[in-house]
Amino acid sequence: MLELCISRGILIGAASLSQTQLLALWQQGEAQPLKPTSSEVLGPFFRKGAPDNRLLRAPGDPGFPLLVRGKVCDTRGRLIEGAKIDLWHADHYGLYDTKGYRYRTRISPDAQGLYAVDTVLPGHYPDRPAQHIHYLISAPGHKTLITQAYFATDPYFDGDPERNWNKSNIVHNKDLVLPVRLFEGATGGAPHAEITFDLILEQA
Ligand SMILES: [Fe+2]
Repeated sequence: MLELCISRGILIGAASLSQTQLLALWQQGEAQPLKPTSSEVLGPFFRKGAPDNRLLRAPGDPGFPLLVRGKVCDTRGRLIEGAKIDLWHADHYGLYDTKGYRYRTRISPDAQGLYAVDTVLPGHYPDRPAQHIHYLISAPGHKTLITQAYFATDPYFDGDPERNWNKSNIVHNKDLVLPVRLFEGATGGAPHAEITFDLILEQA
């Protein structure tokens, strides 16, 4: 039993628990559904019909390179067949391409439910001055999720996203302000930032 718990990432430090109690705790953990990803507003700049493109950053594009990655699953952590992710954001200067599809893509997660898009950190724009990436995720049998990812490193949060995440009521859910990892580039390569944004859908 103890080996089973440990293999599932559960560590229990109370030696006084019986095997029955341990099993009940473990099953309770198993039954706990994942919290669906919080939703956000769609915004006025969504465009249908974006091409499937995992590399949005072109050579010479201004802006800090950014890798956006994560998984798509249901609230039980299961793969969702047929999921589609629309992802779009402003360029380094805070401008959206409203005529074409720069920094816009529509992709499917891979066989493990994972997705990754190579792009640049979005710029700020006056109407919504926190850097963000828009998402629209649809999948058969599941509620469509419209959401946004924000960046804990954004100067908009004045160096304290824990305290200032709700500044001016731009961000509506604290859990959408994501930690940013910074990586040195490989030899001769540019450094890049990376966020992980998991997309957990509710059943319809
Ligand atoms: Fe936006």
